[in-house]
Amino acid sequence: MKEINVGIMGCGVVGTGVAKLLMENADLLESRIGLRLNLKYVADIDTATDRGIIFDKGVFIPDANTIIDDPDIHIVAELIGGKTAAGELTLRALDKGKHVVTANKALIASSGGAIFRKAAEKGLDFAFEASVGGCMPVIKTIRESLAGNRIYAMKGILNGTCNYILTKISKEGCTFETALGEAQHKGYAEADPFLDVEGHDSAHKLAILISLAYGMEMNLEDIHVEGITGITPMDIRYAGEFGFKIKLLAITKNHGDRVEARVHPAMIPEQNPLSHVNGSMNALTINGDAAGTTMLYGAGAGMMPTASAVVGDIADIARNIMTGSRMRVPILGSPEKNIKKIPIIPVTEISTGYYIRLEAADHPGVLSRISGILGDRGISIKSVHQKGRRSNGTVPVVMITHMALEKEVQRALDEIASLDAIPEKPVLIRIEEEEQ
Ligand code: HSE
Repeated sequence: MKEINVGIMGCGVVGTGVAKLLMENADLLESRIGLRLNLKYVADIDTATDRGIIFDKGVFIPDANTIIDDPDIHIVAELIGGKTAAGELTLRALDKGKHVVTANKALIASSGGAIFRKAAEKGLDFAFEASVGGCMPVIKTIRESLAGNRIYAMKGILNGTCNYILTKISKEGCTFETALGEAQHKGYAEADPFLDVEGHDSAHKLAILISLAYGMEMNLEDIHVEGITGITPMDIRYAGEFGFKIKLLAITKNHGDRVEARVHPAMIPEQNPLSHVNGSMNALTINGDAAGTTMLYGAGAGMMPTASAVVGDIADIARNIMTGSRMRVPILGSPEKNIKKIPIIPVTEISTGYYIRLEAADHPGVLSRISGILGDRGISIKSVHQKGRRSNGTVPVVMITHMALEKEVQRALDEIASLDAIPEKPVLIRIEEEEQ
């Protein structure tokens, strides 16, 4: 074999980055791998837009099927995004005997099982380091470096767009729309930014991580998901007064026969290292029985950081091809027969601390009614701040609770919201801290 032929399907932000990196670092990659990676094709339906790359004649093509049908292609990088076309092309590429690399977390989280089975049946590598955390080497870390550990918990900032927006609002006071526009301009956001800001992109990534960490079947449906669109500058400011930062967190805890898996905005203490992860950076803490806590940090989104992870996978597969080693490491870290169905605990059954913000009529007895409702449900208040009276006669009341059962907190809030003295729906943000 003289060289390894690579085809890229999809030349958007990530595809362009991968093409650039394969071309610019071709000599370096060759010296590391010991064989040349030849970028034979880059396919995209739009071949008119300038990508800032000068391709050799015949490389930039409009039809991804050319890559799949070419018997000389060894590795296909699926960088189209979305689920339908990307899923069909991925399965076809595997059927045709190509190893596949992808950055497509939505596809893996929703159809990973079928794709993994196809790859295993064909004895092909399917690699997806770029699907979680951009260039942070999180997949390999969990699957390989921490293989000796029982993983107890993971907490991470896994969406660069949301982290960029929250950082911008809290540091510069800009609007949500301005911050989102900038994140889109910088190439961080998904084609449909709803997936980012409503938490679904983080949930796709968490579904992948829990499958790897616990050896469980992909289960996206049961992950509780909330995004950042309800977070106001006022809550970010009040969080600061209590010594907290607000981050969109992906959280999982291992309870043995069941696991917690949830994505939602959370207040974390300023001394928690995750609270210092700003802009589009991502980070993940992984708690294992032998390793204790490991923290990964890196650029979570954007053209070249994501390309870095894709090219790392391509290099891995090229080395496997050269050494005749196929699927040495099972896709989810355990042989398929050992992958289990592990239920995810409904969010109503979790216990955590809570930040509650109410607009309350400034009348005698209102605060005691509220604390009575909380007390009746076993919810203990850690601190209360009452802010200045507004012109409409209401006062913002901000409470922090000790650990409480979510089901009871939800019921208490429904009861509080039904009081005449509470004109607006209360705001609830969970607090993640180790010691309460
Ligand atoms: N839209 C994603 C993010 C891209 O903002 O993190 C990286 O997966």
